[in-house]
Amino acid sequence: MSRTIVQPPPHLKLQSFHGIFTAAPEMEALFTKLRRIARAHCTVLLGGETGTGKELVARAIHAESPRRRAPFQAVNCATFSPTLLESELFGHVHGAFTGAVRDRQGLFALANQGTLFLDEVAEIPLDLQGKLLRVMQEKTFVPVGGTRPVTVDVRVISATNKPLRREVAEGRFRDDLSYRLRVVPLYLPPLRRRDGDVEALFWQFVSELNHQGMRRIDGVTRTAMDAILAYPWPGNVRELRSAVEYAFVVGEGPTLDVEDLSPELRGEPTPGMPVGSLAEMERGRILAALARHQGRKAAAAADLGISRTTLWRKLYAHRLR
Ligand SMILES: Nc1ncnc2c1ncn2[C@@H]1O[C@H](COP(=O)(O)OP(=O)(O)OP(=O)(O)O)[C@@H](O)[C@H]1O
Ligand SMILES: [Mg+2]
Repeated sequence: MSRTIVQPPPHLKLQSFHGIFTAAPEMEALFTKLRRIARAHCTVLLGGETGTGKELVARAIHAESPRRRAPFQAVNCATFSPTLLESELFGHVHGAFTGAVRDRQGLFALANQGTLFLDEVAEIPLDLQGKLLRVMQEKTFVPVGGTRPVTVDVRVISATNKPLRREVAEGRFRDDLSYRLRVVPLYLPPLRRRDGDVEALFWQFVSELNHQGMRRIDGVTRTAMDAILAYPWPGNVRELRSAVEYAFVVGEGPTLDVEDLSPELRGEPTPGMPVGSLAEMERGRILAALARHQGRKAAAAADLGISRTTLWRKLYAHRLR
């Protein structure tokens, strides 16, 4: 096992925009864009894999906007039944349905003058989509069971893991609403495509957790860092943070080693693991096998079930030599 210890690079250039940390130049370009978008009142549709920071970005846009002193409200559209979602968004009057014992304000009313974040917007049922379109176009809605329209001024930011165009093509989403929601579409790149961010965010989270006093980590073995860098991070920043927390809980001492990493990160296959590209998966498995066998190629090849020559060829192809 390589006991070379990696320490936080002394000139780690980490930017933060309302809690969104990054060292990647393309993310800094995104921050500039976010500042401009924040000034306008247009809708924003955020796309990107799970854990890429869509909600964080929605909050950042609100915090940078002239609406910052008014409320920011968020709702995950996938977690409500259709009836409950309507009442959650638009409120209800007492007696509207069993259990509606008093008038209740919905999120559109609560977010008045501010911003409403609709997470997993593709899950809004078709019959509710018309009502959503109306409040966005005419700024009015009628609470469930009510008769009088309510007027609001709310900026809508939404997020989706599913491509809205496909939902439209397959008849599950109104195209007029999709245009309305997608005035500014923004795609958050996966963590594995953000140059330098895996390492930078790793140290950021280590430093945050060091302050909690559970453990103090000031270095990482080269082998562990290689496994971290090779991993495709399907759960993105959320998963990276959890991995660091895992190391703080299961390990001890000032140096983080491979034993402090979760089985996925060590390259031990877990059932149904959704990951990035096949090439990225392969690269990760190879690095992890090398880590398990202290860099001995014959043993790593045997572990992977491939010949030594194949391993050499793959090391070359992945530029791991
Ligand atoms: N660049 C970042 N710097 C620091 N923390 C981040 C960053 N990106 C995301 N996080 C953290 O990772 C977690 C996931 O972020 P968030 O909820 O915004 O992701 P999401 O894209 O909305 O995910 P999902 O699609 O699963 O809803 C949060 O705890 C958030 O604070
Ligand atoms: Mg989210």
